[in-house]
Amino acid sequence: MNATMPQPLKLSTFASHRWQCRWRTGLAAGLVTLLAACGGSEDAKNDPVNPPVVVTHADAKVWDISRAMGPGINFGNMFESPSEGEWGLTAKPEYIQAAWNAGFRTVRLPVRWSNHAASQFPYTIDAAFLNRVTTVVDQLLARGFHVVLNMHHHRQLDGDALDAGEFAVDEAILEERFVGIWSQIGHHLGSRSDKLLFELYNEPHGRMTASKWNTLADTTLKQVRISNKERVVVIGPASYNDPYALGTLTMPLDAYLMSTVHFYQPFAFTHQGATWVTPPQPTGVACCSAEQANVIFNGIHHAKYWSDAMGYPVLLGEFGAYSAADMTSRVTYTRLVRQSAAQANMPWAYWEFGSSFGVYDPVANTFRAELTNALIGN
Ligand code: GLC
Repeated sequence: MNATMPQPLKLSTFASHRWQCRWRTGLAAGLVTLLAACGGSEDAKNDPVNPPVVVTHADAKVWDISRAMGPGINFGNMFESPSEGEWGLTAKPEYIQAAWNAGFRTVRLPVRWSNHAASQFPYTIDAAFLNRVTTVVDQLLARGFHVVLNMHHHRQLDGDALDAGEFAVDEAILEERFVGIWSQIGHHLGSRSDKLLFELYNEPHGRMTASKWNTLADTTLKQVRISNKERVVVIGPASYNDPYALGTLTMPLDAYLMSTVHFYQPFAFTHQGATWVTPPQPTGVACCSAEQANVIFNGIHHAKYWSDAMGYPVLLGEFGAYSAADMTSRVTYTRLVRQSAAQANMPWAYWEFGSSFGVYDPVANTFRAELTNALIGN
């Protein structure tokens, strides 16, 4: 290639640049072009090898993965409880097989790493725990699933009260420890196939404001990239991964990213009777009126518009209705959300497998047919 020809600016080139760029987002025909307004020296501005224009969006591989993910299910209340089994479920091989047989093709695996790593540098993850999670990840991958492995319920990071059995660490090292834990996960699982995705953090909120989260996500991603050059990393917005908070999310300059949102609207319906919600939502709320259906459609399409504009796929990583709602309404709601996501070409994962939102009854060892059919059927 002619050395004087303008060439695409590679990420590595950009990272090593000695001058700073401010980023401006321009929306043009559904494509986002990021124009660098660079305040460096004149020679850098005119440098023909590194023109100050970058187009950023997900690599085609990320889109291929998002299309291949298929119906997804959260293996919730297993590894994100203070210890596996404390919230009633463990990740049994028969659940993996059952989920596959039912037609799910992605498993999101929420994990409370913060409870299983040392409080002092280098924040070593407990070997038995790391091996246990790795075993389940490998079983899922061997079965054929895409796996979204995340960091879930880091209570102290969000400034929430700790659960019984949790320990706090020195505030000064909280974020460094977060990055250190991800660095270890990255090195440990770096050799796994592209079907393994890393999701940096579930529902940042409270003390983890958008600006803090944007910075922490960027720093963490850089560490993860040392061992996982092209693995898809999933980053959702602050405010509990609310689709309407996507505008506050700064995606790091990286082509192997996906975003994610959680959608529990209409909340008065999905969380009625849920013991962990304050104030408690009264029971007896049905779904879905035309107005409720609009709320669902609009929320999901808001995420789609962001996805189209920014050029990154968005995973609908959680949606579902708690078991205190009537089953007919839950089935209607579940089908409606799933159809809206399909219409928006968004991969999705239902919350969750076998607990209080569950599609599976772990006592009878059977799927709840209507609910499962609302996800997998017509
Ligand atoms: C979030 C929480 C999870 C909860 C779910 C439904 O994912 O992390 O614990 O069960 O939302 O409220």
